[in-house]
Amino acid sequence: MNSPLDILLWGAIPYAAIAVFIVGHLWRYRYDKFGWTTRSSQLYENRLLRLGSPLFHFGILLVALGHVGGLVIPRSWTEAAGITDHAYHLVAVSLGILAGICTLAGAAILIYRRRTVGPVFSATTRNDKVMYVLLIGTILLGLTVTFLGTLAGDPHDYRQTVSPWFRSIFILQPDPALMAAAPLGFRLHAMAAWTLFAFWPFSRLVHVFSFPLGYATRPYIVYRSRDAAPGNRAPRRGWERAT
Ligand code: HEM
Repeated sequence: MNSPLDILLWGAIPYAAIAVFIVGHLWRYRYDKFGWTTRSSQLYENRLLRLGSPLFHFGILLVALGHVGGLVIPRSWTEAAGITDHAYHLVAVSLGILAGICTLAGAAILIYRRRTVGPVFSATTRNDKVMYVLLIGTILLGLTVTFLGTLAGDPHDYRQTVSPWFRSIFILQPDPALMAAAPLGFRLHAMAAWTLFAFWPFSRLVHVFSFPLGYATRPYIVYRSRDAAPGNRAPRRGWERAT
């Protein structure tokens, strides 16, 4: 039986966060297209950025892939593929901890840089600070549950609670009781993540959706053609007299 609080926390808030995430991005694109940027600070400092940024980005990419594996793929599928629970957990925990530590180490370098390099600090807004708190808070909570579970020796099997709850949201049959049964650390981690997702469209994190895929195939130098187009005068040869 779902309590009203469980329905609010694990039935309503996830949908509210997803709606704000989608509508927020559309709104931002429509009304703040020129503000849709990472606000790169590479011009101010490059040495720490060159180390911290790839560490953070490769780490978080691995964390995201791990979440797809753990939350989206049902246990019955990995079982059918012949992957035992023990093998799953071994890979999930070792890769998860490696990815989480890379992400955290990268983030620590980036935050240290932001605090100690004058021009980068001056370019840091209040919005950036809120974003950093939500991002680091979510990562720390995720890593804490993973570490505590491993230290305890008998980790909570989130593929019986958190994962089916997560999928239940996306198949539009939310089952809050599943998440209400998960340990507190998991609930705090998930709530921090929904808060981060709701803040996302209003922060520099929008740059995630501007991944420059075209860079891989575009020419080094873009030449423009002088094709005749409305308003273009046909080019003439040689020197022309000013009129
Ligand atoms: C509602 C969304 C999310 C859910 C349901 C969720 C759930 C989980 C679960 C079940 C774990 C595994 C804990 C363990 O191994 O014992 C985990 C770990 C973790 N999560 Fe999340 N998570 C969410 C979003 C996020 C986001 C947005 C971030 C990053 C900003 C994040 C960062 C991490 C990290 C760093 C770990 C530890 C390393 C790892 O296992 O990858 N999570 N999360």
